[in-house]
Amino acid sequence: MTPNLYPQRKTLRALEKIWSRLEGLVNRFTHSDFNPFYHLGTLTIFMLIVLLVTGAYLTIFYRPGLDVAYATVEKIDSNWLGSLMRSVHRYASDASILLIILHLLKMLFSDRYWGQRWLAWTSGWIMLAGTWLTGTFGYWLIWDGRAQWLTEYMMETLAGTSGLTYVAVDLSSRTFSNFVIILFLHVFLPIIGFLGIYIHGLRLSRARWWSPRWVSVQAIIGLILLSLIKPTMSAAPADLSTLLSDVRMDAYYLGFLPLIDAWGNVIFWGLAILIGGSLFLLPWLARGRDSGPAIITDPKCTGCNLCYAECPYDAIAMVERHDETKYHKLAVINAAQCTACAICVGACPTDAIHLQGGYSGEQTFNAVKGALHREKQEGHPVTVMFVSERDVTLGTLPAKLKGNIREGETVFTSEWEAGARVVTAILPSIGAVNIEWLRTLRDEGARDIILLSHPYDDALYREDPHMLLNRLHLHAALVTKDLHWLEIAPGDSSALEAFMKNLQREETQKEKQPKPLPPVKNRNKLIPSLMSGLVGTLILLGAFALALPLDVKASMQAADGSALRIALDAKGKIEAANIPEGVTLPEGADPVKIFGGVHFPISVRVLVDGNVVLEDTYEPSGISGNGRISALEFLEIESGTRTVEVWMKDDSDDYRLVFSGEVTFEQGRVWILVYDEATDTFVLR
Ligand code: HEM
Ligand code: SF4
Ligand code: SF4
Repeated sequence: MTPNLYPQRKTLRALEKIWSRLEGLVNRFTHSDFNPFYHLGTLTIFMLIVLLVTGAYLTIFYRPGLDVAYATVEKIDSNWLGSLMRSVHRYASDASILLIILHLLKMLFSDRYWGQRWLAWTSGWIMLAGTWLTGTFGYWLIWDGRAQWLTEYMMETLAGTSGLTYVAVDLSSRTFSNFVIILFLHVFLPIIGFLGIYIHGLRLSRARWWSPRWVSVQAIIGLILLSLIKPTMSAAPADLSTLLSDVRMDAYYLGFLPLIDAWGNVIFWGLAILIGGSLFLLPWLARGRDSGPAIITDPKCTGCNLCYAECPYDAIAMVERHDETKYHKLAVINAAQCTACAICVGACPTDAIHLQGGYSGEQTFNAVKGALHREKQEGHPVTVMFVSERDVTLGTLPAKLKGNIREGETVFTSEWEAGARVVTAILPSIGAVNIEWLRTLRDEGARDIILLSHPYDDALYREDPHMLLNRLHLHAALVTKDLHWLEIAPGDSSALEAFMKNLQREETQKEKQPKPLPPVKNRNKLIPSLMSGLVGTLILLGAFALALPLDVKASMQAADGSALRIALDAKGKIEAANIPEGVTLPEGADPVKIFGGVHFPISVRVLVDGNVVLEDTYEPSGISGNGRISALEFLEIESGTRTVEVWMKDDSDDYRLVFSGEVTFEQGRVWILVYDEATDTFVLR
């Protein structure tokens, strides 16, 4: 008998239990096909499509540039269609982050991150980072207060010439190219995202990319309603001569800026790299265990292809066979791809597959038959129930049944009402049920057979309910009145108990009729009931509306006082010509003109009211030390009128005074002192 490895990770299972309860609660009102919680990954792809469509509309009207960007966004906002497109674009980008995080948590809680899933897991993280980066660039394009904060951050972190372009307006042509680069990245990254999605699904067979039609409609309705309730607004235009004191920061994308402002770069990025890096590497840091891989007993394999066709993880290959058997093909397992779902074990008509960890369909079924015979001989009516390890772990079995599970045993018998008995078999997944078992059990006197599945779209192994349902659809004769297909959210033991109680009733037994199975084809086209559609839409609207409280009011810490920016961009003076060794120049030739020269660094000292507030030396850029020298400093200054002096040293002489004056620092305002090479002074702006 196989040990059930699924419950061993107690914290994850406890979290999964809570998660499943929540999904189960939604299932009470809306069917699995329309429950958004079961379609988080595909809904994210749908959001990406919404973003591409609305983004294409916005790009037609948007113009990049320091002077025009804000105005064009205002123009887009000035008519209802533009405003709607912009709002849907913004809420869909927040929804993408939310949906990815929920999808990620679901994968984590249900142990779907290690083993063969490492590729989906790591590529998922990269896509999350890409989505975040794309959205952040989007906020920059508006050129309002949020963009200003981003720019401030960029200037402080990168310093150098890229930041200078924003404070030295004469260099504004360079900001145009910055706008174009950001716009390009904002459009280009999502396109690469499709490659990411392709890689995400590389290790899956028949990856499903489309969210069900109605769930997509629910999402669109949610986005439009939210956009009408609270259309997106720009903050005030960016103005680098002010300090931001009250701007709304979308926590999904820009929440990092106020955090960095409060904690500093080292703590924020240190924590982000530590936590993000550990989660990224989780498949290796916290690898789980399963009972796999599947093993094929070659002499029993007839090469029928069934396991190959059903494996959801592309872990089986059919190879040519040239041995003493009469068969032409042999199934071969790729152990690295196998998730131990045992769907192939259930599919195999010759019992040629078992799991290395000990699960064998043949042994399990023999144990079920043995238990059935014993109870029949004693004259009890017997119900046989097949359940998955996940269902047992998450508490779907009523206490009356659960109490009889013995350590290491996967088939057990329980007493039920009126002398009836229930023989329960715990399988790796419901897809491990071999449909030939149903015929045999019926022939051998089982009164009822229950196939307990989790909801169709909540498959732990992607297709476990689907594959069994499909087998049943292909063998319609097996679907008789004593076969019961049950889809119950994991953990909902009361639903199972109620069903079983009802099944024992004499009238129920008398009136039993074959029940049609849920469809396996065209599920995408199902139409929800009014209640189902309403609940699904409200859930999505509510989830998307989280963007409203997460649009947090924030202000730069420096805004309580005033600030002074020092901007320096100079060619610098030459210390010595760069003459290569062994080269002699003809008389009169200027070696600096021919080979360039090594520049002196530039040192700047700033004094406010006689106190040194900055003293730093800036080296020339470029590998050979002959590039421009640039610097951008941000100095917080207490408000009030102050004497400011700037001293500079750019050759072998001592410091010389390049600015001196009385400056009135107002709260929330920034003065800029820009170095002017022509006059060799700093100019106040
Ligand atoms: C843009 C972001 C993402 C999109 C569009 C996306 C989409 C999807 C879709 C549609 C599936 C289901 C494919 C199928 O079962 O047929 C899937 C599976 C999966 N996703 Fe994502 N995903 C994203 C991000 C993530 C993230 C951030 C993680 C975790 C870090 C993640 C982990 C996984 C895993 C492990 C599976 C495999 C599930 C299984 O084996 O049963 N995904 N994803
Ligand atoms: S289902 Fe069984 S018999 Fe058919 S190919 Fe697979 S292992 Fe061989
Ligand atoms: S156990 Fe599941 S994943 Fe492994 S080979 Fe069989 S069907 Fe594929």
